[in-house]
Amino acid sequence: MKLEIPPYIHTIPPYVPGKPVEELEREYGITGSIKLASNENPLGPSPKALAALAAASAKLHRYPDGAGYELTRRLARHLSANPGQIVLGNGSDDLLGMLARVLLQPGDEAIVPDPSFLMYTIVVQSAGAVPVKVPLNQELAMDLPAMLAKVGPRTRMVFICNPNNPTGTAIRREAFDDFLAALPERVLVVVDEAYFEFVRDSGCVSGLAYLAAPRTVVTLRTFSKAYGLAGLRVGYGVMDTALAELLNRVRMPFNVNTLAQVAAAAALDDDDFLKKTLATVHQGLDFLYTELSRRGLRYYPSQANFFLIDVGRPADRVFQALLRQGVIVRPMGAYGYPAFIRLSVGLPEENRRFLRALDAVL
Ligand SMILES: Cc1ncc(COP(=O)(O)O)c(C=O)c1O
Repeated sequence: MKLEIPPYIHTIPPYVPGKPVEELEREYGITGSIKLASNENPLGPSPKALAALAAASAKLHRYPDGAGYELTRRLARHLSANPGQIVLGNGSDDLLGMLARVLLQPGDEAIVPDPSFLMYTIVVQSAGAVPVKVPLNQELAMDLPAMLAKVGPRTRMVFICNPNNPTGTAIRREAFDDFLAALPERVLVVVDEAYFEFVRDSGCVSGLAYLAAPRTVVTLRTFSKAYGLAGLRVGYGVMDTALAELLNRVRMPFNVNTLAQVAAAAALDDDDFLKKTLATVHQGLDFLYTELSRRGLRYYPSQANFFLIDVGRPADRVFQALLRQGVIVRPMGAYGYPAFIRLSVGLPEENRRFLRALDAVL
């Protein structure tokens, strides 16, 4: 290729998604496999969202509502925010990209917990900026004092993943308040709450509590997890109206498609589905914790719908062996934990199947 590509593009680490069931079954010639690797909703999509999709499909010859009027209004009501504070995205990934485009210039820095969601590094590097990685602490939680210590004159933003993917640890209110008090106001705080609905610790902080604060805190949420709409791609950011206005300038005009808008608005009203989802995930977590303890395996309790298990041997080999049993999990070598797997909670029968496969493999 004879094109002149900026060097920082060549060094972007490729995002490696969870292995799709169809790919596994093609490669191994098996059927009936299960995927517990991408923190998806094991119950499927919200039934109210599915019903809304059917009704909306007759309008697919029209462009989507570029402003996402109805969904934005419903979200504003749901969050006690005003519509001007909400920006819709093609998944919350899309918001991460918009924030990087608005905030970062080549040579700027963004502070990123490590390990955490890989997209932070990708969007920062795509803008020619430098991800400054700060290791998690002994408890596998974000080390806020260490993150503060990395703030320099070129720091433009800090990513807080709450709860953190892949460790499931959450930041508590007092720790976050201390962090904000010490952080210069010119640094944007991005609180990624993709798994917030699953949190059981009542002391866990939400970025939304700082919407009226004088400093800028952006909260990102998604319909991909608790609402079961990962395949439709819809997420949102809640922030100061002036920043929202800038994000809307770099946002692709029709970034959230018609079906995604309609389904997300319907899912937001589907309280029964959300309750059932949380019950399934929480009961699944407690069941798996008990079963793993019984087997003498170490795991890390989580505030999300996934958690880490220390398999005490190369996780990649365990991952491969589980694949042969038709069970997809996520090996954590690429995240710096060569002996850990990350397991997304499934349906009760999927959790039992995982345990049977793990017993066979270990
Ligand atoms: C921490 C975190 N943030 C954001 C996302 C992206 O979510 P979305 O599907 O809304 O783009 C994920 C998805 O895995 C995630 O783990």
